[in-house]
Amino acid sequence: MTFGESQTFMRGVTSPDDEARRVFDAAVDAGMNLVDTADVYSEGRSEELTGAWIKGKRDRVLLATKCRFPIGFGTRPVGPHDSGLSRKHIMEACEASLRRLGTDVIDLYQTHMQDRAVPIDETLRALDDLVTQGKVRYVACSNYTGYRLTESLWRAEALRTQRYEALQLQWSLAVRDCEREMIPACRAFQLGVLVWSPLARGFLSGKYQRGQPAPAGSRFESWKDSYKQFDNDRGWGILAAVTEVAQRRETTPAAVALAWLLARPEVTSIIVGARTVAQLEDNLKALTVKLSADDLRQLDDASRPAWGYPYDFIAMREPW
Ligand SMILES: NC(=O)c1ccc[n+]([C@@H]2O[C@H](COP(=O)([O-])OP(=O)(O)OC[C@H]3O[C@@H](n4cnc5c(N)ncnc54)[C@H](OP(=O)(O)O)[C@@H]3O)[C@@H](O)[C@H]2O)c1
Repeated sequence: MTFGESQTFMRGVTSPDDEARRVFDAAVDAGMNLVDTADVYSEGRSEELTGAWIKGKRDRVLLATKCRFPIGFGTRPVGPHDSGLSRKHIMEACEASLRRLGTDVIDLYQTHMQDRAVPIDETLRALDDLVTQGKVRYVACSNYTGYRLTESLWRAEALRTQRYEALQLQWSLAVRDCEREMIPACRAFQLGVLVWSPLARGFLSGKYQRGQPAPAGSRFESWKDSYKQFDNDRGWGILAAVTEVAQRRETTPAAVALAWLLARPEVTSIIVGARTVAQLEDNLKALTVKLSADDLRQLDDASRPAWGYPYDFIAMREPW
């Protein structure tokens, strides 16, 4: 998402191409084997750069991309067939992604968000055809509600189509909403979990300070509205716990925040969003941090959200 100069939602918070290339190479050299992009990132440029840089390394990298959103929205008129999970849009979006990525096959093709306007069967049959045609190896989804995911899995079973094998979702110490429905669903139906914004868009790196403006050039300097969800007692309390554990383990807050996710058995892959090689190196420290049961309890206690009804009611008898 940080690759390519964006004119839309990532405007001003992506890496210059030469640094992005260094991040990509350093990640692959460090043994990372999954790259996640989407047709909508930097209006297709993220896929083009990934496609160019992956040449010669294709067999070492699982390539994941997504479709659903209209490319360039907000900067150009968008027609009714330029987005969504209809057969028409999925087929066209996949062909365009294959072209931009310069590859014959996408390893993991993800629907970027559910689409209530299209029958589930239509979406599943289109994705199934892409697998049959050899253009896609596995399908997954992102940003689904628990009920829509479950219904999609049931329909895939009834229709005998490919099913979603993984869910890509937002998860971090600061955003734990997925633990209500989506994580239990992934456990129950044995889906892989790919985590997005694992550092809460950089908030958990420790570079933001309460009462002070966001550092120049940081994502939250640009995304002031998004910052508000963390710039409160809960957010700073979580960061204080992360920082304390980091001091105890002689590492960085980013490494601790990522290690907390790695300690969750449901996590299949963490999609780190490092904008610079220095950030990537900091984040890779998560692989060597060993969090104790006390560390995990402290992080868990500081970040537990209000689960709400019916979760609190159920938790009186059976914790999930
Ligand atoms: N499916 C979806 O709907 C969805 C949505 C969002 C993202 N994603 C995927 O998830 C990936 C990661 O998302 P994300 O970029 O939001 O993840 P993130 O890791 O939570 O945030 C990454 C940002 O935090 C800052 N940062 C990262 N490591 C740092 C460090 N060690 N020290 C200081 N700052 C650091 C950088 O921003 P600055 O330097 O600019 O401050 C960086 O661009 C994306 O690339 C995309 O593939 C998917």
